[in-house]
Amino acid sequence: MFDSGVGGLSVFQEIASLLPSENYFYLFDNEAYPYGELAPDVLVDRTCRLVRKMMIREAIDIVVIACNTASTIVLPHLRELLNIPVVGVVPAIKPASLLSKKAVGLIATPATITRQYTHDLIRDFADDKDVKLLGNSQLVDMAEKKLRNQTIDLEQLREILSPLIGNIDVAVLGCTHFPLIKQEISIVLGGNVELVDSGSAIARRVESLLEIREREKGYGRREVFSSASPYQEEALNITLKQLGFSPVQLMTLDVSDR
Ligand code: DGL
Repeated sequence: MFDSGVGGLSVFQEIASLLPSENYFYLFDNEAYPYGELAPDVLVDRTCRLVRKMMIREAIDIVVIACNTASTIVLPHLRELLNIPVVGVVPAIKPASLLSKKAVGLIATPATITRQYTHDLIRDFADDKDVKLLGNSQLVDMAEKKLRNQTIDLEQLREILSPLIGNIDVAVLGCTHFPLIKQEISIVLGGNVELVDSGSAIARRVESLLEIREREKGYGRREVFSSASPYQEEALNITLKQLGFSPVQLMTLDVSDR
């Protein structure tokens, strides 16, 4: 599984609750975080190189790009490069549009909001709806902090989400970091706003691609890798331990990974 940071752990939780006994290798590119501010060609290059490096190290059956920002541009490149299934995560515009009677808010990174992929999704599945776009990287930072056991400033969150407050009935959490702060987002947007993400759909997709007939109990290996120091953060390792992972290991990119 791959993301720029810890956001993909929201997707991991969905997959691992269906398939706990599989081996999981979670790799995050903290050297280039946040992806929502990164140039597309850098993002494609880094994702491809890091995923390939992981595949050289371990026998991988399936890759999950647990990042909307990367998925909206990197999937064709990775699929060309690899001969195993690659599953991506894109904003859940379609289910949100089906649920909405008023207006849909798409909350994502600044990059995802501008991507053609996202605008095609809106055109294809929510053409008859008013879709309000909100791109913000501070929300991503908040989720990173929460997983390091720091509290979230609800006033700051309210300010960021203010264009949507009172104006939507469904919000798409279009960044994998956001389900990690779902509770806080719900407090700010109000309990009558439905929050939709892609996590459980991705988990079912992974299960079907792996052709698992019988779900087994018990844990497999669970390891986390990051692309840059500082990678040994006590608070983060505690959260990871609760999810069954061993402490973060370092997996840097260098010239030989080209
Ligand atoms: N978790 C990511 C996403 O789903 C990226 C967040 C970031 O690094 O900007 O878009």
